[in-house]
Amino acid sequence: MSSVTCTAPVNIAVIKYWGKRDTQLILPTNDSLSVTLSQDILHSKTSISANKGYAQDRLWLNGIEEDITKNKRMHNCFRETRALRQRMEKEDPDLLPLSTYPLHVCSENNFPTAAGLASSASGLAALVFTLAKLFDLPTSMTDLSRIARQGSGSACRSLFGGFVAWEMGSEADGSDSRAVQIAPDTHWPELEALVCVVSDAKKGTSSTSGMQQTIESSPLMKERLRVVPGRMDAMKQAIKDKNFQTFAELTMRDSNQFHSVCLDTFPPIFYLNDTSRGIIQLIHEYNAANNGVYKAAYTYDAGPNAVIYATKENMKEIIELIGHYFPSSDEKKSTYFTDPYNVLEGK
Ligand code: PMV
Repeated sequence: MSSVTCTAPVNIAVIKYWGKRDTQLILPTNDSLSVTLSQDILHSKTSISANKGYAQDRLWLNGIEEDITKNKRMHNCFRETRALRQRMEKEDPDLLPLSTYPLHVCSENNFPTAAGLASSASGLAALVFTLAKLFDLPTSMTDLSRIARQGSGSACRSLFGGFVAWEMGSEADGSDSRAVQIAPDTHWPELEALVCVVSDAKKGTSSTSGMQQTIESSPLMKERLRVVPGRMDAMKQAIKDKNFQTFAELTMRDSNQFHSVCLDTFPPIFYLNDTSRGIIQLIHEYNAANNGVYKAAYTYDAGPNAVIYATKENMKEIIELIGHYFPSSDEKKSTYFTDPYNVLEGK
């Protein structure tokens, strides 16, 4: 039996991916850009064992076995990595025929799953990376990102640390739709992220059906696709220059536009709740009190939980501010982490 365990970090997009032009290959309608967070605090940990004695492929997620018969995305990752391993086995008959062995996968998130905290990104990145290690694939991270993309779009960005773009590409087969690192984690060490768990409940509308509904019914989506390319260029420049003012404004505008598009679908999709909106208002008031020089930027994925980007010098004040205005008696909902981004060390 061969067995490997790896962890992968969460990434939080500052220019959001929302919409697929190809639902089978998971090809997006726009480029996106994210910051990979430190995996010390938020991560998915995945163990995979291959054994010819196993009856079939199986998955346990957070200790509970899942039915994977209809889990196409996971099978995409199995199929792609097994094909690469098979090629190696053909070239070297001494290799164990691991590509033919059934797999048992155990994956755990140390944070709420499917609550809009990018659990699918870290989960599928961990799956693909662990498969690559198990099969001893010589595949580059860029190539692995193309496979992870077929597990969950945003997962492709979790294979790199620091600041990562997912280039949408233009090829019909998806060969140029992959993640690239814009800057390493060491580039802007003053930048930190605060994750505010507003609710750990599973989201009502999955990203997959939310995206589908958006493409089918939001007129505003056209406008979003028009502005994102300019935002991508401006965001890359802001990161290069470590310009928090521009970084913050683009981050907040992009989050707001993503949630506006969700509201513009028919029927509308609500990912934010009253607490999320309260945090948005608080951050705007906090920035306004500093003469409009931004000290903090919020962003929300497909859920009510806030991620606040700020530089180290202001983070303590921001944690106190959030704690003051949003005290909570529920331990789970008052968990705030400071979370400097990091590379994929120890994977
Ligand atoms: O990777 P998915 O299918 O879970 O989609 C994630 C979409 C957002 O988190 C809302 C945005 C993003 O770019 O991560």
